[in-house]
Amino acid sequence: MGFPENFLWGGATAANQCEGGFDQGGRGLANVDVIPTGKDRRAVITGKREMLAFEEGYFYPAKEAIDMYHHFKEDIALFAEMGFKTYRLSIAWSRIFPKGDEETPNEEGLRFYEELFLECRKYQIEPLVTITHFDCPIHLIKKYGGWRNRKMIAFYENLCRAIFTRYKGLVKYWLTFNEINMILHAPFLGAGLTFAEGENEEQIKYQAAHHELVASALATKIAHEIDPENKVGCMLAAASYYPYSCNPKDVWESKKSDRGNYFFIDVQSRGEYPNYGLKMLAEKGITLEQTAEDTALLKAHTVDFISFSYYASRVAASEDSGVEKTEGNLFPTIKNPYLEASEWGWQIDPLGLRITMNDLYDRYQKPLFIVENGLGAVDTPNEDGKINDVYRIDYLRAHIAAMKEAIDQDGVELLGYTSWGCIDLVSAGTGEMKKRYGYIYVDRDNEGNGTLARSKKQSFYWYKKVIASNGEDLA
Ligand code: BG6
Repeated sequence: MGFPENFLWGGATAANQCEGGFDQGGRGLANVDVIPTGKDRRAVITGKREMLAFEEGYFYPAKEAIDMYHHFKEDIALFAEMGFKTYRLSIAWSRIFPKGDEETPNEEGLRFYEELFLECRKYQIEPLVTITHFDCPIHLIKKYGGWRNRKMIAFYENLCRAIFTRYKGLVKYWLTFNEINMILHAPFLGAGLTFAEGENEEQIKYQAAHHELVASALATKIAHEIDPENKVGCMLAAASYYPYSCNPKDVWESKKSDRGNYFFIDVQSRGEYPNYGLKMLAEKGITLEQTAEDTALLKAHTVDFISFSYYASRVAASEDSGVEKTEGNLFPTIKNPYLEASEWGWQIDPLGLRITMNDLYDRYQKPLFIVENGLGAVDTPNEDGKINDVYRIDYLRAHIAAMKEAIDQDGVELLGYTSWGCIDLVSAGTGEMKKRYGYIYVDRDNEGNGTLARSKKQSFYWYKKVIASNGEDLA
């Protein structure tokens, strides 16, 4: 018993948070480049403050990030040293199609990822590729308004065709959209949306989500046609909601909140909008423009597996409960008095991972893949310059143990585990470098100072042991 023999252990990153090289190799500008650190970040991410170019007086951390663009060989060698079986990364759309609406892809961009995948293959590391992890060419936003425009489906299709064709035989696991439900909470990040004063934001967000869902089904279709070996997954920012109390009103609130997230995966996994979702849209006065072709695509091309991120559990309470809110992965939630929280207020709950896995598996009965999990923390080197990140090891140990229980005791099917930010990278939420998740430390600070040198933390050696023992040795 325990983890299956071919379990895919590894780590995860996203292009915009680690690559840098924003203007190299013919790459075009993207939404993720123009998101600054500091007080305006949240307004930009949520589409309330339009920033479609670099502005004076701001720091843009994604421009250089940890410069994986030039360090990928060194970084992949370190992943291999830990024994990674898989490495989750994302493609920067504007490296392949710099503007997004060209007919032919940028050869230099295609070559960059080809070399990266070959480097993975050299160490028998299976790439797991997110087609879009929050990025969108800026030209598509300026000219078409991002995913609010149906034309985006065709541009995304071109991207998919180009990469599925070029990387056939090199990549088998694909994720269509990172955390698709994030479009509701961070619409500029998730879909390149900005809003004019007085616009009906909900209408636009759900229509944009519909375009992404159709694009996701189309990608699944094409992936299977180009190579029947391809496996395509959806990706949810997951974490089941607990009711704040056994007051039926709180229980009802938690059910509604869960459905707010399942809404997307229900479509991607079951092939149609769920009844509660249709009622919810109607109640909000939202009309989705959906063609017969869309409906057919959604129905016929559901995903092969369900991937998700899990950092912290969530709590829901009815409006009249008057309870306090806390932070959590761009979703403010309610404080759970039974849990400790990270330095950023994210509530640490390994059993919540087991609960979430069971909820998702019961609902969809498709294999799961945990593609993000980890602890964002400040790491301070000791006198010898070493980082003894026991807090991170404790977090990961408890979550891996919970995963094991879900497999062993509950019969959940789990394909793999890629912990988030296996190498320190820029935080998506805050843009900080000091919110670190890695097994590998990168010498760079919030203001962009540092040598970019990589070094191994204590957790590096620990994770190596975990992988070598296939999850048996968590000590
Ligand atoms: C997920 C994203 O929301 O959480 C990642 O897919 C992100 O891109 C991760 O980095 C952790 O969030 P943060 O804000 O700590 O970087």
